[in-house]
Amino acid sequence: MRKILTTHISIIFMVLLAVVGISPAAFAQAQLAPTPPMGWNSWNHFGCKVNDTIVRAEADTMVSSGMKAAGYEYVNIDDCWEGVRDSKGFIHPNDARFPDMKALADYVHSKGLKLGIYSSPGPHTCGGYEGSYRHEKQDAETYAKWGVDYLKYDWCSARYVYKPDQYQAAFEKMHKALLATGRPIVYSLCEYGMDRVWQWGPSVGGNLWRTTDDIEDNYTRMAFIGFGQEGLARFAGPGHWNDPDMLEIGNGHMNANEYRSHMSLWCILAAPLIAGNDLATMSKQTLSILTNPEVIAVDQDPAGKEGYQVSEEGPLRVWVKPLADGSKAVGLFNEGKSTMPVTVRFKEIGFSGKVSIRDLWAHKDLGAFSGSYTAQVPRHGVVMLKVQQPGS
Ligand code: GLA
Repeated sequence: MRKILTTHISIIFMVLLAVVGISPAAFAQAQLAPTPPMGWNSWNHFGCKVNDTIVRAEADTMVSSGMKAAGYEYVNIDDCWEGVRDSKGFIHPNDARFPDMKALADYVHSKGLKLGIYSSPGPHTCGGYEGSYRHEKQDAETYAKWGVDYLKYDWCSARYVYKPDQYQAAFEKMHKALLATGRPIVYSLCEYGMDRVWQWGPSVGGNLWRTTDDIEDNYTRMAFIGFGQEGLARFAGPGHWNDPDMLEIGNGHMNANEYRSHMSLWCILAAPLIAGNDLATMSKQTLSILTNPEVIAVDQDPAGKEGYQVSEEGPLRVWVKPLADGSKAVGLFNEGKSTMPVTVRFKEIGFSGKVSIRDLWAHKDLGAFSGSYTAQVPRHGVVMLKVQQPGS
């Protein structure tokens, strides 16, 4: 009886999907990233020096350091893995760097992790390697055969072969090719925010899409990109995320306060958390910034709401992210040159009466407050709070 009921419910569900024009495969794709994807990517630290040995070492450390336990899952190879196509048009990795991609995927999977790869809708990637242009179906099949779980698809030379009104079709082509393999593969669009990708990213199968040009390991660039996300919150949600680019935490050109601002802002933005440092040699401090469970919980909150700015006063900014339990995560940021007081007024974040506040970096309950809360925030630093109204 129960089985018959379940079958009936499934059939009704499939019919409903068909009525609203969603294929079951496309529906499954949208379920792939219910919270922002977390992992590591080779580009920000290793660039074109990436190889099999490095990827294995990063996977090992993702487990041994506690990053996997903190939620990091994808081990993503960026550009420069590509070799040549064979006479039938199938892509092969650069043998010297990646002798056996299937064996590498098996290794990553054996650690309970997932493997990501990179290509372009154009004939060449940004690094000048083989892209997927006119080989989309073959490449998707190859990735599925290797056991790939995530594809970053980077516009690069596609600008020479597609006109602006063909952007969406170019991305959708690979989406369909991935779906046809039957393997769940997270689809990460990378075209730097052109043509307001956040408006159409989900309809071409994107689970995430870059909203900006490349990040760099300095506070000015990180803050420009992070705070520049204002206005995009309504386009993100479970299965489809704005991607302000990968993390630079631990790459050495920002101090701990700046990296904490980077992590806090990305979590308030419900951004994908893709570490971009060398995990195998990272310091304890870098690890602790990347794995603070209370801060990660803000990013991974099941409501999947992206945060937004509630006030800006000179170099001082207050951002808020609504959480599933009715509480709010609040970031008090200081872009100025010295320590300054930053204030959140509870009315501005939708609370009246008494609230209780917890400091998520200090792991400390601060007590109950009315009206507003002010913290001294260091230069380029952050104070990140969880604000809760009893009964909310
Ligand atoms: C572009 C992307 C980067 C990286 C490089 C690789 O610049 O935005 O994230 O993938 O290409 O060549």
